[in-house]
Amino acid sequence: MNFVDPKQFIITRKRKKYKFALFANSPLCFEMIEWMAHKVSIDVVEIGAGNGLFLVELATRHPDKTFAALDVKGDRLQKGAREAEQRGLNNVWFVRARADQIEELFLAHSVSEIWLTFSDPFPKKRSSGRRLTHPHFLKRYATLLRADGSLIIKHDNPAFFQWSLEQLVAEKWTIEELSFDLHESDLADDYKILTAYEQRWLGEGRVTQFVSARRSSRGLID
Ligand SMILES: C[S@@+](CC[C@H](N)C(=O)[O-])C[C@H]1O[C@@H](n2cnc3c(N)ncnc32)[C@H](O)[C@@H]1O
Repeated sequence: MNFVDPKQFIITRKRKKYKFALFANSPLCFEMIEWMAHKVSIDVVEIGAGNGLFLVELATRHPDKTFAALDVKGDRLQKGAREAEQRGLNNVWFVRARADQIEELFLAHSVSEIWLTFSDPFPKKRSSGRRLTHPHFLKRYATLLRADGSLIIKHDNPAFFQWSLEQLVAEKWTIEELSFDLHESDLADDYKILTAYEQRWLGEGRVTQFVSARRSSRGLID
């Protein structure tokens, strides 16, 4: 039987509180309500960004664009915010919010890219509604994206990826770029920036699958 040391538990809680304090004190971090008052126009959104370090690197490479990392966990986001502060970036922000709230966070048809990186796969069928590629989320993304905007997905779970491709096709998205092994492909270097999850698993022989898709004009008319 595993022994749970109560002191360890207290330390862990304190640590979480400490990370939340870092989130609250960072000028780059926003609770949802604060962000709604902020009103910055955003080009690129990552949903379920975790520590957001992937987006920090993307923002560093593209100082002419604006970026927002979304996650429900502020203690994770603060890590990316601290790195962005250290790099002196002023084009990336970190917002604690849920994916189903995005229409309240960004203007309709204003975003050029939405990234979903290693989203929780929720493998049980009864939880499929929580997958960030479920049709009810795809509809929200379509509302936010510009006419020429893209939804970009990276994932290591073949079942989740396959299911997501099926949802995209069913929802009339047009697949633009597709790879079942991104890091062996000729696709753009930006796509190959490693996320924290990717970094952890890639060494174990898993491969990254990649798709970028656009709402087809047929889908927009329907
Ligand atoms: C498996 S992690 C991947 C993190 C990061 N994208 C990476 O690749 O390192 C999934 C992340 O999605 C976040 N998440 C899950 N459901 C969410 C939702 N509905 N809205 C916003 N974030 C969510 C979790 O808190 C977690 O940080």
